[in-house]
Amino acid sequence: MRTVAPETLTDMLLSLSGPDTDPRVQEVLSALVRHLHSFAKEVGLTHDEWRKGLELLTRAGEISDGERNEFVLFSDVLGLSSLVDMINSPKGCTSSSVLGPFHILGAPPLPVGGDMIGDNEGPQVVVQGHVRDQNGAPIAGAVIELWQTADNGLYSGQDPEQPEYNLRLAMTTGADGRYAVSTIRPAPYMVPTDGPAGDILNATGRHAWRPSHLHFIVQAPGYRSLVTEVFPSDDPYLDEDAVFGVRSDLVMEYKPGERASLAPDIAARDRLDDDFSLVDFDFVLPPA
Ligand code: BEZ
Ligand code: FE
Repeated sequence: MRTVAPETLTDMLLSLSGPDTDPRVQEVLSALVRHLHSFAKEVGLTHDEWRKGLELLTRAGEISDGERNEFVLFSDVLGLSSLVDMINSPKGCTSSSVLGPFHILGAPPLPVGGDMIGDNEGPQVVVQGHVRDQNGAPIAGAVIELWQTADNGLYSGQDPEQPEYNLRLAMTTGADGRYAVSTIRPAPYMVPTDGPAGDILNATGRHAWRPSHLHFIVQAPGYRSLVTEVFPSDDPYLDEDAVFGVRSDLVMEYKPGERASLAPDIAARDRLDDDFSLVDFDFVLPPA
């Protein structure tokens, strides 16, 4: 150990693992240590910079609680969350995307064709499609959770003016795999910038905007669960999402809606404005 030097420290540390170390733990931790040490050597990390990095992590811990996790936000704004999503998304299925911090358990059930607009103001939209397997067959009994911002860019939970489960639902597909709901268009919003993740964005001249999106979790017995988001093609932030969540297969179109084209469970709805938009979006799940 007395002979430790920048050239020998990494290997010396890695050789300390005991024989019972789980092979995957050893693989992941070794790579992490090697990259961490190479990073410090590559940039010639100073004491001051090392201390600032540790302060950033300390502040992330201090600002995090049961409702907010600044470490997840670090991972999001540094692109790690999206990289892990992409590495693990099977081909030929709907891509996964970031969960975000605003999902809550216990969304109220809504039948297929139900209304989520309620008292919400904003441009109205019918979102519909099917849940399918990789061969295109409909998946019956899939549970779809949907949550989104109101017209002011805030989720219920962030906004005391909104009821607890405003613009949140859980819908179960029937034999045809179909889902459909009338709602409002979600609005773009900024990720929280009042903590150290915001400092990273500021320090590098990045903005905090996310394109507007609908969040979905789709689960069905025998299939891998999907956590994803769907983004409108005309959103100004589509190509500059602060957390890199957009994938080409997750982009949807707001098409002009026609009442005559709707299924009877929505077509007769009085609450639906004549100038509503229509989104058709299918989810494809891989087997478990
Ligand atoms: C969201 O989509 O709700 C979100 C995702 C990542 C960071 C912050 C917010
Ligand atoms: Fe979101």
